[in-house]
Amino acid sequence: PVLGVLASGRGTNLQSIMNALNNGQFSAEIGIVITDKPQAGALERAAKAGIPNICIDRKKYGTREDFEKKLLSVLRKHNVEHIILAGFMRILSPLFIKEYKNHILNIHPALLPSFTGAHAHRDVLAYGVKISGCTVHFVDEGTDSGPIIIQAAVPVLDDDTEESLAARVLQQEHIIYPKAVELYLKGKLKITGRRVLVKE
Ligand code: GRF
Repeated sequence: PVLGVLASGRGTNLQSIMNALNNGQFSAEIGIVITDKPQAGALERAAKAGIPNICIDRKKYGTREDFEKKLLSVLRKHNVEHIILAGFMRILSPLFIKEYKNHILNIHPALLPSFTGAHAHRDVLAYGVKISGCTVHFVDEGTDSGPIIIQAAVPVLDDDTEESLAARVLQQEHIIYPKAVELYLKGKLKITGRRVLVKE
């Protein structure tokens, strides 16, 4: 299977997927790594691993539609069958998602359905919950709303800052994302309504 990874930042989640591939946790090919920002560290990580990578700079496209058309054409050119969103900070339109329905995975740094959106850790601390975590889910037309594949919980500590909480959550992200991709690629996930069942 050919994967396309979309990222906007450092790319540590991309790295965890590449590491899992190297360790033989599952087999797949990363056909292309795409970022929407030229300075995204994910580009360098891909290049280092010899994986094709490209920046499709969002700023250079007027409308989301134009941007997504370009995304789709690059994904198709590289024969991408499954999309892994790894810290990709853009909302994809329903039209885009339709093209890859149930073939797009995302990781969110909170326990969904709580604390959706781009500032999860800040919102978690502001609300005062005692447990946070991360969620891997299929992407549907809503924001952070698709069927949940795996979650992991971490404690929120009294002296946490956004940074310290993010770091604790990130450690779990790097475990559950490769695991979710593994289950997905091995055909072990069954979506029934909102629930994703794991067949062993
Ligand atoms: C992660 O916390 C991910 O959950 C969120 O953005 C962050 C990306 O980190 N959506 P990285 O670029 O994978 O290091």
